[in-house]
Amino acid sequence: MTSNKKSKKPSTWLLPRLGVNIDHIATLRQLRGTPYPSLLEAARIVEKAGAKQITVHLREDRRHIQDQDVYDLKKHLTIDLNLEMSMSAEIVKIAHKVKPTWVCLVPEKREEVTTEGGLDVKKYRTKLSKLISDFQKKKIRVSLFVEPDVKVIQLSYDLGADAVELHTGRYCMAMQKAFGAKSKDIAQAEFERIHDSAVLGKNLGLHVHAGHGFDLINVRKIMALDLIEEYNIGHFIVCRAAIVGLDQAVKEMLGAIQAP
Ligand code: PXP
Repeated sequence: MTSNKKSKKPSTWLLPRLGVNIDHIATLRQLRGTPYPSLLEAARIVEKAGAKQITVHLREDRRHIQDQDVYDLKKHLTIDLNLEMSMSAEIVKIAHKVKPTWVCLVPEKREEVTTEGGLDVKKYRTKLSKLISDFQKKKIRVSLFVEPDVKVIQLSYDLGADAVELHTGRYCMAMQKAFGAKSKDIAQAEFERIHDSAVLGKNLGLHVHAGHGFDLINVRKIMALDLIEEYNIGHFIVCRAAIVGLDQAVKEMLGAIQAP
């Protein structure tokens, strides 16, 4: 692993921020086509519990979040809105109209259960560079959801992104022992990739975010690195909310990412 001694923290650095992804509140609604649960009510609870951002993914197939949800959240939220989205022209047009604080560009496949890998920044560099500058002209900040790979971090910086969100899915799954006997080695290798990518990102002056697969246990080792500025966490928080309520689920996660 490379040393993080030289890493520069942005002057605004305080405690890590929590962005709560509420896609699966919408999943529950879409499952039956009911008017409940209310996304706005959920967002207000998240906000009151101390999270600094609401994250939603407006997927091309609209399986959970709908266009109107994004407009309503933008209108009523007092905390930041982070819109996860593919590079599709239709979604880009909506993002320009909504003007969220952040867009997080992600790869998207119709058949996937959730976002599977990081963006292929090399393949789409020309398209990404144009999308990034168009968003930034409208004062929308751009994050790229990428694999924790130093080459990809460097390229994201070269393309002008404001932030990288490191895809922690493989690390988190390995920590949950999803790869059987290989889990321990995979978790360690992924942890080192996350560390090295975060150090490089910080040294380049990028905002370094992380997301995918976090729970109350696997997030602690990443939090202890003290390199991640923002966490975007959804599935675990919504699952935990079914047991203890959304307010407590958010507060527990805030405790995990902010308590030393
Ligand atoms: N960040 C990004 C870019 C994602 O696509 C997702 C999943 O929607 C998350 C964070 C949140 O992941 P999880 O639901 O596993 O916490």
